[in-house]
Amino acid sequence: MPSPDDPLHALNQSLEDLITPEYWKSLCPNLTVSRSLPQTSTPLTEPPGNSIRDRVLRDGFTPLEGTTTPTTGVTPGTGLGAPIPWSINLAHLVTGIQTLAEHGWPAWYIAMYDETWLLGHEISDVVFRATGNLPSLDFLAWHVDPREGQTGFSPHRDRQPADPPSTFRADGTARYTTVWVALTDAVPQNSCLYVIPAPFDPFYIKGDDLSADANDPLSVLTPTARDYQHIRAVPLRAGAALLFTHRLVHWAGRGDSLHPTPRVSLAWVFTDPGYEPPCFGLENLPLPPVHLRAALACGQSVVYRKRFKTGEMAEPYAAKIRAEYQWAEWERKTEGAGGEAPAGTPTKQKPERAAGKGRKRSKAARRAAVETVVDEIISPHPVEGLETGLMGLMFGGDISDLSDLEV
Ligand SMILES: [Fe+2]
Repeated sequence: MPSPDDPLHALNQSLEDLITPEYWKSLCPNLTVSRSLPQTSTPLTEPPGNSIRDRVLRDGFTPLEGTTTPTTGVTPGTGLGAPIPWSINLAHLVTGIQTLAEHGWPAWYIAMYDETWLLGHEISDVVFRATGNLPSLDFLAWHVDPREGQTGFSPHRDRQPADPPSTFRADGTARYTTVWVALTDAVPQNSCLYVIPAPFDPFYIKGDDLSADANDPLSVLTPTARDYQHIRAVPLRAGAALLFTHRLVHWAGRGDSLHPTPRVSLAWVFTDPGYEPPCFGLENLPLPPVHLRAALACGQSVVYRKRFKTGEMAEPYAAKIRAEYQWAEWERKTEGAGGEAPAGTPTKQKPERAAGKGRKRSKAARRAAVETVVDEIISPHPVEGLETGLMGLMFGGDISDLSDLEV
């Protein structure tokens, strides 16, 4: 395990390093950082008669089986989460995520590498035909080691919209779906996913009671002992994937501390842009420039910091970081829009100090504000990867100003 003294460790990298392909290549030599689509990477297809669409309509989820490529042929649907015929070497992604962790980077910095994006590229046509959804570019990756007592997320729905029925189309397809890819075998012993299938969930489309004193959705769905029989484990072989909607109750179980293999996985979100627009323009796909990959990974560092408990953050610190993040996000969205928050921006994302006064900061003032946050708050509370991540996020589109490097 490299120490923080290792020159490649996250704590020794600058913002410039974050957007320098050579740094990432030297960290994981088996992975690539380029903008050249390999000829071997072609979108998967689904043969006539396969039923991914029907299964996700019925249950709210389905293993992505029966996909095919011109060269590999059809993967039979066995109901056991058969591997998808990806063009890339998944073992290299697993090693990459482990290497990132050893150097202080959260697992989702695997988005710096082409192979992560190629997974999304190769499955996108199948997802579009099954759901009508396009890449939203919301992304996450996990390295869950049961020997360390680690687990994945607790029971939740990915979205709790104000009007849940409106997040489904007239034909029943969900306007938000996730593709969750197992990079190692995902089994109950290493925290595989569990779900409540939609037919056993009366609140799947209708929506939950979100009042302050309401129970969580899983408790509501399991009022009696017999209801626990609705819970379904979803083990997946390495290379298999699960497609599920934003309204499916799902979670990761607690594994066995004697199980030798971590559960390594990643997820790409696909949405109806009218419901949830992509994180950046789809014209940048399939292999976006490195500064956009970095900005996305940095954003996820902030968004998911509570879920992963990446550090011992005091609440005043967390609150200030949240406010800074919301302010930066609001400013980015309102730039060039006359200071008006765009339609659909949740009120809570419009921070108090930015609202009402129409105040805007210059680039220099913004930089100074971020540096203040880093100097006064983050540095005394070091969180692996977050300092660099936050810098990248706050500068957003300006990050490329700091380097001429483009790949
Ligand atoms: Fe989730």
